[in-house]
Formats: sequence, structure tokens, C-alpha cells
Amino acid sequence: ESTLGRAAAQSGRYFGTAIASGRLNDSTYTTIAAREFTSVTAENEMKIDATQPQQGRFDFTAADRVHNWAVQNGKQVRGHTLAWHSQQPAWMQSLSGSALRQAMINHINGVMAHYKGKIAQWDVVNEAFADGPSGARRDSNLQRTGNDWIEVAFRAARAADPAAKLCYNDYNVENWTWAKTQAMYAMVRDFKQRGVPIDCVGFQAHFNSDSPYNSNFRTTLQNFAALGVDVAITELDIQGASATTYANVTNDCLAVPRCLGITVWGVRDTDSWRPQHSPLLFNGDGSKKPAYTSVLNALNAV
Ligand code: G3I
Repeated sequence: ESTLGRAAAQSGRYFGTAIASGRLNDSTYTTIAAREFTSVTAENEMKIDATQPQQGRFDFTAADRVHNWAVQNGKQVRGHTLAWHSQQPAWMQSLSGSALRQAMINHINGVMAHYKGKIAQWDVVNEAFADGPSGARRDSNLQRTGNDWIEVAFRAARAADPAAKLCYNDYNVENWTWAKTQAMYAMVRDFKQRGVPIDCVGFQAHFNSDSPYNSNFRTTLQNFAALGVDVAITELDIQGASATTYANVTNDCLAVPRCLGITVWGVRDTDSWRPQHSPLLFNGDGSKKPAYTSVLNALNAV
């Protein structure tokens, strides 16, 4: 097959990208995105500050722009993200305690109702663990409402849209030996044991010199899948875009039957949140990089 999406579909997987609504009038961008990818994640448009700018007033203008583009081009959509310490609107940042807990539930209900039946996977909770060796939860206004905020979010999400797969999504959790990975693993194991509704774990996979790719990523994916959840690579980018590393990550997903697919965090290097890392599969002029070919070849080798 000659595109990433079709090559991934040979094993029943998707190959996705983050899409920024502000670039949808750039025809070089949309041509590549429409051709190569089969799944779309809104880079910022479905986040809390975008979808509920004032308390009780939902705004899906930008989110719908991305969702409509995806549907019109035959792509599935990953929803990103419902409960997060970052990109909260000012009104939410100022809340705490039971008012914040209820606002989180209302937000989940409002956004998921708008997209009911139209989202393949939701990142229900994003980035709730601390970096470094502590293995602790990240401090945030949400965490300070009580340690059960994550399971409350997942239960609300299941009720709001029973058709969506519900994911926990984080970064620096690819290396099996890292404390953050082990903490996330313990949470998912506990959720599965207690029947908290969780379907998938998203590994962002932002690889760089501080958190480089390690071949034990495959072990991580396998160990989470063995808990009874699907896994997905949700925001892949690699500093320097080594063709070998891109192939290794692709093969790690392909080796795990419960790995649903791979999403890269942008189309061209110039679209990346870290353009100075040149971390993506296409050059700024839209041409394919060596990493593109290595990913395509890996997908086609299955
Ligand atoms: O739209 C405004 C613009 O009006 C304003 O003039 C400009 C000035 O700063 O900011 C623009 O908003 C920026 C937005 O991206 C859109 O470009 C924000 O400042 C900027 O903070 C925001 O960055 C996003 C970041 O999440 C915020 O946390 C990145 O685009 C986005 O790629 C990044 O994505 C995250 C995932 O959601 C979660 N995992 C990590 C990943 C990378 O940080």
C-alpha cells in the first residue's frame, strides 16, 4: 500500500494525525492529511478552554470544524481531552473542591453529549501523574478534589457515551522502568480489578533527548494490554525523526494485537509544537522524509 492509512489498515489499525483547525485552509496540509491518515485528533480544539470558555456556555465552533473535516474525509476521530490540569479556562482554574468536581462532571457530560456516537476514543483524563521518581499523582486543582477524581471522570464518561472507548492518556510512560509508567500501570490494574470503566491507555510518545525511545516500550504496551485494555500511540513525534526509531515504534505497535493504531502529533515539521526538533514525517514543503518511508515499509511488512 502507498499511504500510511491504507498500510495500517492491512492489520486492522488506523494511522492518524493531530489536526489544527487554523491550518485547514492550507491546501498542502489538507492534501497530505486527507491522503495519508485515517484518524484525526484535534490538536487543541476539543480541550476544556476551547469547548467551555465560560462556565455553562459550550462552544464547539473550532472543534466541529476539525470533526466535520474528519468525517467528510472518511476519518475516525480521537477526542482529546475532557479532564486535564492544563488548558483550563480561567473560570475552571479558579474553582476547587466540590464545585470543581461538579464542573468536571458537567464538562464531560456537555462535550460527550455533543459528540455522542461520533468519537471512536476519548482521552477522558490526560496527564494525571507527576514526572520523576515519585510515582505520585501530579498536584493540580483536580487532584486536590480527591484521589478518586479520575474514576469519577471515567464513570461519568461511560454514562455519557457508551459507544466511545475511554482512554487514560499520558507522556513519559513509554519506558517500562520509569516510576511514572509503574504508577499508571498500578492505577489501570486497580481500575480493572474494581470495575472502573476504562478501555484504553494512550501513550503520547513525545520522544526527545530527555525522554528517548527505549526498546522496552514494546514490553510496556504488552503489559498494559495484558491488563485487559487496548493501547494506542497517541501523539507520536521523535526529535530528529530517526527513520530507525520511527520503524521501531511502528513495529512495537504492530507486535501487540491490542495496539489500535498510531497518531503522529502533526503533519509537517512546520506544523509541530516543537518545530525546532523536526520530529514529524513530512518536511515543511510537504515532501516525505526518510522516516515516512520507514514507517510505511514497516506497516507494509505485516
Ligand atoms: O490560539 C492562540 C493565539 O490566539 C495566541 O495569539 C497565541 C499566543 O501564545 O496562542 C495561541 O494558542 C496556543 C495554542 O497552542 C494554539 O497554537 C497556545 O498558546 C499554546 O499553549 C498551545 O499549545 C498547545 C499545547 O498542547 C498546550 O498545552 C500545542 O499546540 C499542542 O500541540 C499541545 O499538545 C499537547 C497535548 O494536548 C497533550 N500532550 C502534550 C502535547 C504537546 O504539548
